[in-house]
Amino acid sequence: QSQREPIAVIGTGYVGLVTAAGFAELGNEVWCVDIDASKIDLLNRGEIPIYEPGLAESIAANRERLHFSTELGPALEHARLLFVAVGTPPTYSGDADLSAVHAVVDAMPASDRHALVMKSTVPVGTGDSIKRAFATRGKDGFRYVSCPEFLKEGSALADFRHPDRVVVGDDGDWAGQAVVDLYAPLGAPLVRTDIRSAEMVKLASNAFLATKISFINEIANVCEETGADVEEVARGMGLDARIGEKFLRPGIGYGGSCFPKDVSALKLLAGNSGYHFQLLNAVIEVNELQKRRVIRKLQKHLGTLVGKRVALLGLAFKANTDDMREASSLVLASRLQGEGALVSAYDPLAETEARKLMTGVDFADSALGALEQADAVVLVTEWAEFKELDWKAAAERMAGTVVIDGRNHLDAGELAAAGFTYEGVGRGT
Ligand code: UDX
Repeated sequence: QSQREPIAVIGTGYVGLVTAAGFAELGNEVWCVDIDASKIDLLNRGEIPIYEPGLAESIAANRERLHFSTELGPALEHARLLFVAVGTPPTYSGDADLSAVHAVVDAMPASDRHALVMKSTVPVGTGDSIKRAFATRGKDGFRYVSCPEFLKEGSALADFRHPDRVVVGDDGDWAGQAVVDLYAPLGAPLVRTDIRSAEMVKLASNAFLATKISFINEIANVCEETGADVEEVARGMGLDARIGEKFLRPGIGYGGSCFPKDVSALKLLAGNSGYHFQLLNAVIEVNELQKRRVIRKLQKHLGTLVGKRVALLGLAFKANTDDMREASSLVLASRLQGEGALVSAYDPLAETEARKLMTGVDFADSALGALEQADAVVLVTEWAEFKELDWKAAAERMAGTVVIDGRNHLDAGELAAAGFTYEGVGRGT
């Protein structure tokens, strides 16, 4: 194990920390660098700035191989491969903000022995433009590899350990081969290709999965009109190996740090290069409207929402994370307030993040607390604990009886038995 190559990871956010922990598990020394001194202090005290199942344990177990610093020097000294895992959030125009990536590029010295390995999601062509920047500054010995990330929040470490595939885009040099060797112990299928194609794999994969979700959401909406049950339909479709059962769960629209951003980035990338990617416009629009359909369902049961109390169960963009980025709950809460409703909410993990982004919401410490005097409940995030909720006790605390299940997560029969008017997605009433 001591022969494993030492590496550096620049950016100790979500992707950076999981990648660092994953390689430390494989026996690599990992030099983690971040410009945020408070984050580095936290990590050096053994605390983990984000929530991800198993991450704290993994970092603790491999602590001696992990080094955290704000200094680039030691990383450059010990490692040839510098993984870049800095944020590329959308700008006002919807394009990716590459300023953090450029700052990393600018900080690199002239070197014949180093390579940047891009983990951050970047537009197609970024690798080539970074290579040009190196060349014009006399740093053309610096190598570049694209190695996109496919981690899902909530199962990111498992995704690192058992990837569906490893994609390495490079110029056929030592650096690409070194990245291939680094991942070899995981035994995953390898796609070794050119840099632009590797960059495109990431955007196309996320856009395809988002399309799959918007597709099943539209099927669900048609099921509501025609009396079919989308859960049965999805089961019947998913068994076709060409379709597959995954990412065929209808719901309240996709959110998170990747799908909304990457779909819009691919649409704009196509547009900027002169191609009108029509399908993605529909994917985005369906997703926007899907969040808002809940309002119509509430109005159908309650009439006007003015002065009505609506409880949101779950706020995070999906279960098992505290991440609120592009969460459907944000649009929903503000639309409800716009309709004059009072909003109470409970999330087992995301309340701290949610408080930074939501105003005028009454946060409760428990699901039952949020349901106090509520006229209706909307299940927004599929947390396991909502399945276990004592719905008889809930009925006694509520003023009304409406439950809108945005994820088809609850047992319709149990809710009906407890006296609720239950409505899921694509399952009729
Ligand atoms: C995603 C990609 O899956 C991952 O490969 C990429 O690296 C980053 O983006 P993540 O954002 O963590 O990962 O979450 P994911 O589990 O993919 O869910 C994204 C959104 O789609 C969530 O809001 C989720 O609730 C929603 N979703 C997912 C559905 O509505 N239906 C589904 O069937 C699956």
